[in-house]
Amino acid sequence: MASLIVRNVGRLTTWHGPVVERAAVVIRDGVVEWTGADADLPAGLGDVPELDAGGAAVLPGFVDSHTHAVWAGSRREDFVGRVSGADYSPHGISSTVAATRAASYDELLALTTERLTEMRRHGTTTVEVKSGYGLTPGEEVQLLTVARQAGGLAQLDTTTTYLGAHVVPAGRDRADYVDEVVGSLPAAVDAGAHWCDVFCDDGAFSLDEARRILTSAREHGLGLRMHAEQLSHTGAAQLATELRCASADHLDHVTEDDARALAAADVVATLVPVVSLYSRSMRWSHARILRDAGCTLAIATDCNPGTAWCESMPYAMQLACLAMGLDVETTLRAATLGGAAALRRTDIGHLGVGAKGDLVLVSSDHESDVLGHLGTQAVIQTVVDGCPIGG
Ligand code: NIG
Ligand code: FE
Repeated sequence: MASLIVRNVGRLTTWHGPVVERAAVVIRDGVVEWTGADADLPAGLGDVPELDAGGAAVLPGFVDSHTHAVWAGSRREDFVGRVSGADYSPHGISSTVAATRAASYDELLALTTERLTEMRRHGTTTVEVKSGYGLTPGEEVQLLTVARQAGGLAQLDTTTTYLGAHVVPAGRDRADYVDEVVGSLPAAVDAGAHWCDVFCDDGAFSLDEARRILTSAREHGLGLRMHAEQLSHTGAAQLATELRCASADHLDHVTEDDARALAAADVVATLVPVVSLYSRSMRWSHARILRDAGCTLAIATDCNPGTAWCESMPYAMQLACLAMGLDVETTLRAATLGGAAALRRTDIGHLGVGAKGDLVLVSSDHESDVLGHLGTQAVIQTVVDGCPIGG
């Protein structure tokens, strides 16, 4: 927790009132204390370090609410096959499970810390990290522990999700494995998990299996999230509304009825556009269906080796804007406030007084350039808890 005055901000977006030009932000002990015009900066702030933004636009830190950042090995063969015409299949997950099980704790910690640090360089200040490439109780707990430790080393606000129900591991009986996932929930809680997720889809888990796992997870005090309607329409979005999940993610095959139900149940709809590109599904229209139904939208990277090898929130946001057709403000809100809503947090994703002092200095004097300038580093500096990092 640090104190900091960010001065000479070209344009400040707080999500409370209009953008302020030539602005300043005062963070005390990691919390936003004041924002306004630089010329109106209050006197008597004491001996607080200053950061000169040099006219850069400032946004709330990005909230990446869906990642699978703990893995070892590579899926480059899947990638090469896919760009030669093969379809994405969740069966590829098993090769990442084998490589991840073969890696040591220290190797996984180094790989994950590197990925989370790269996320922070691209402006992510809060990240959700799922397990899901271990698929035994012991391995899954290890991945949750790695995620928490790596989050600390990368100086990110980190929350972890138990995804033992990613796929049924090779050679395992389905019913036995679902029992094992349910039986592992207390260990996941002990390992610090706040959430339970299920990949509910063809080739993964059925609606009944997902309902059983998530109902039990709630009894153990975990918040609920789902991979829903990614590869096919299964009814997973309606299950997310029935269970009042915090978010339903992917949603490529969502219907208008599903979208209205998600909105009414206050389930955040998390878009992961990098997956639509990287898996080559090229499905984009669900974003507008969800927006038009009044859903709260989040945008996340879904960083994983199979369908989204990408640590950059700006890249995900550019696709949300240019390919999915969301406007600039909707996109920026989804990557900040929307991610916060998906994680059921009110202290992040905005820069109102009392918010966490997490922000990004954009490498331009206008925030829309995060979306409009492709192939460049969109962020010059990230501040977490009032501590400037990078630069
Ligand atoms: O979010 N959908 C399930 N899980 C990941 C992909 C995992 C993988 O292919 O390794 C996803 O797309
Ligand atoms: Fe995912």
